[in-house]
Amino acid sequence: MSSMSLNSDNNKNERSVAQSTDSFLSPLSGDLGGRAIKVFCPGTVANLVCGFDILGLALSDPSDIMEVKLLDEPKVIIHNRDEYNLPTEPEKNVAGVVFLSAMEKAGNNKGFEVIIEKHIKPGSGIGSSAASAAGAAVAANHLFGNIFSSDEVVQLAMNGEKLASGVKHADNIAPCILGGVSLIRSIYPLDIVSIPSPDLHVTVIHPQIEVRTSDARQILRQQVLLKDAIRQWGNIAGLVTGFLKNDLDLIGRSLEDVIIEPVRSILIPGFDEVKSKCKDAGALGGGISGSGPSIFMLSRDKITAQAVENVMKEVYDRIGIDYHTYVTTINKKGVEIV
Ligand code: HSE
Repeated sequence: MSSMSLNSDNNKNERSVAQSTDSFLSPLSGDLGGRAIKVFCPGTVANLVCGFDILGLALSDPSDIMEVKLLDEPKVIIHNRDEYNLPTEPEKNVAGVVFLSAMEKAGNNKGFEVIIEKHIKPGSGIGSSAASAAGAAVAANHLFGNIFSSDEVVQLAMNGEKLASGVKHADNIAPCILGGVSLIRSIYPLDIVSIPSPDLHVTVIHPQIEVRTSDARQILRQQVLLKDAIRQWGNIAGLVTGFLKNDLDLIGRSLEDVIIEPVRSILIPGFDEVKSKCKDAGALGGGISGSGPSIFMLSRDKITAQAVENVMKEVYDRIGIDYHTYVTTINKKGVEIV
C-alpha cells in the first residue's frame, strides 16, 4: 500500500471533512436513490506460499468499508474515516486512481465521492491496497450501470495495485473481487480461474513491523534454478489439485516455497519459529501472506486454528513485537455491495 501522506494541515482538514460527513446512506441523504452504495471489501492472502503472483484467497475478516456516491461532474472526492492518513488526492490514492481510470474508460462526465473506512492496515500483507482498489472498481461499475465486463473490473482495480506496489498483479485483486481461491493464469491477456476450495480455517498474525511490497519485490532474485522451478511447479499443481479434490494432506504438503520465502523470510523476525511451531500445533501449513509481514496458516478446523493463533502469539510475545491476529475462514463472496 502506498504510504504517501498529506502534510499535517491537509490531514486535519480532511479528517474534519470525514467526521462531518456522517454517511451518504443516512436518512438525511435518502433522496440519493440508487446513486450511493456501501461496499464491503475483504482482506486477502496472496501467493498462497508457492504461487507467487498467481494464487490468492479472500478472508472473511478483516474487511474495509466504502460508501460511494455517484456525482454528476467528473471529479473524485475522497474522505478517509480511519487513522491511516492516506492521501486524499485522487491520483495518489489507490481507490482514487481506480475511480479516475473508470471515469476515463466510461467517458460519461460522471464522478464519485467516497468515504473510506479501512480496517485492513496498510502495509500488513493482507491486501489492504487491493481492498481499496477492488472496492472502487466494483462500486464504479455498479454505479455506472454495470457497463464493464468482470475482466475489465479486475483490470481497472489493477491500476490501484500498480500505484501501491509499482507492478500490476492480480493475486490480491482477483480473490478480493471474486471471493474464494483464485488462480491468475495470465495477466496479459487476463485469464483468471476461480478454484473451489474446502472450508478451511485461516489464522493470520500481523507483527507490527513495516515491510513495503516494493522493497519485498526488489530483493527477489531475477533468476531461478531449474531444480527449484521444478519443485515449485510441483507444489503449485499439488496445491491446486488439493483444493479441487478436497485433499487436505496434499494441500499441506504443497504449501512449500523454495524460491520466494527463503529470501523474504529474513525480513520477518520469528518467521521460521512461527512456521514450525504452527505445524506442530496442527496447521496444514502456511507462510508469508503476500509480501509480508503477516504470516498465515491454514487449518482443518476452528479449534486447530485457535491453537495456531496461541502459538503465533507466544512467539511474538517472547520476541517482544506487538501483533494483531485474525482467526477466520475463506470468504466465498468477495466484494459485496449492500
Ligand atoms: N504477489 C505479491 C507479492 C502480493 O508477493 O509481491 C503483494 O501483496
